[in-house]
Amino acid sequence: MYVSILYESFFGNTEKIAQAMAEPFGSAVLLKKIDNVSFDELTEVELLVVGSPTRGFRPCEKTKAFLKSIPENGLNGVKVAAFDTRIMLETIKSKPLRFMVKTGGYAAKHIAKTLQKKGGKLVAPPEGFMVTGEEGPLADEELERARNWAVQIIQQG
Ligand SMILES: Cc1cc2nc3c(=O)[nH]c(=O)nc-3n(C[C@H](O)[C@H](O)[C@H](O)COP(=O)(O)O)c2cc1C
Repeated sequence: MYVSILYESFFGNTEKIAQAMAEPFGSAVLLKKIDNVSFDELTEVELLVVGSPTRGFRPCEKTKAFLKSIPENGLNGVKVAAFDTRIMLETIKSKPLRFMVKTGGYAAKHIAKTLQKKGGKLVAPPEGFMVTGEEGPLADEELERARNWAVQIIQQG
């Protein structure tokens, strides 16, 4: 299975999650920052995984631009999955802000929706990975959870 894992990352947390996800796929995976890739490079891809930090309840700009660049039906016959990183609610001191983040939603759901709209077949529910504070580090065990998430996708075939 040819796999592409594309990610955006400011402080390095989403990058670490993407790297952990790539491990179980071995040499079959293309792991790239999303701004360094154009959709045309992905002609052989069978599974496309896209991940972004959540900012303002949504994916970040470069992720949105990449998703927009995918032609209509460009993902027909392609398996897709989406993930984000997001702040751990317990690490937000302000109560109103904590409430806003909790209820505002997260990037992965939006990414998954767009990938499906472009013809992709979703093979895993959108997943979020926790960072402690705005800049991280990642919460304990998130790298292991990311590896397991990838293993589950592989096991589905
Ligand atoms: C401007 C800004 C907006 C953010 N908005 C959200 C948000 O709406 N929800 C959330 O859970 N985390 C939010 N965060 C925390 C980011 O999700 C966190 O910085 C990101 O997961 C770190 O990933 P990175 O190290 O790959 O950049 C925000 C952070 C910044 C700097």
